[in-house]
Amino acid sequence: MTKVAIAYHSGYGHTAVIAEAVKRGAEGAGAAVSFIKVEQDGKIPDASWADLDGADAIIFGAPTYMGSLSGPFKLFMDATSKAWFTGAWKNKLAGGFTNSLSMSGDKLNSLFQLVVLSAQHGMIWVSQAEGNQSNANDVPSGNVDSVNRIGSYLGVMAQSDNVAPSESPSSGDIKTAELYGARIADAAKRWNK
Ligand SMILES: Cc1cc2nc3c(=O)[nH]c(=O)nc-3n(C[C@H](O)[C@H](O)[C@H](O)COP(=O)(O)O)c2cc1C
Repeated sequence: MTKVAIAYHSGYGHTAVIAEAVKRGAEGAGAAVSFIKVEQDGKIPDASWADLDGADAIIFGAPTYMGSLSGPFKLFMDATSKAWFTGAWKNKLAGGFTNSLSMSGDKLNSLFQLVVLSAQHGMIWVSQAEGNQSNANDVPSGNVDSVNRIGSYLGVMAQSDNVAPSESPSSGDIKTAELYGARIADAAKRWNK
């Protein structure tokens, strides 16, 4: 069975909604998912390192804070240097998502950081393939129910208002994340043939 690991941080619960959606998508495509929450101190359970090492694909996710990946996630990134020393993640597929308050909020920088992290590990980055459906369907750009309403192709970008995570991110962002989880699971299946 294809194994996908999702390692994510969420300070206030909004990015966690996106992480859950990625998980649903990957599971829907038949993958077994290790769902790994990065704590405020950057730590994950000891057993989760083995899950990461054993995964066919790893999807990273974190909110954008100050135009950059959140501090706790950066601590986790530093801790992945152990896997770097042994080349444990070489040739795995990689993907990523981020979420912030503004439509831009400089989220692209966060995705770039995830791409570079993946490249340092010798991983193979999988882009986000869904078009901006608000453009395609002639509804206002940024329509909350549209897939990829932000128009991000490097990875998943979501936007959350300062309300409860049950209200925001939007249904379109959640759907985008589900499709991305499925895409990575499918890609990992093909990659491991
Ligand atoms: C310290 C801090 C810095 C932030 N910086 C940005 C930013 O640069 N751009 C942005 O759009 N939102 C920014 N935000 C808003 C968060 O990205 C937004 O509230 C997000 O939904 C939080 O995700 P979480 O609930 O998973 O922590 C910031 C929030 C915090 C707490």
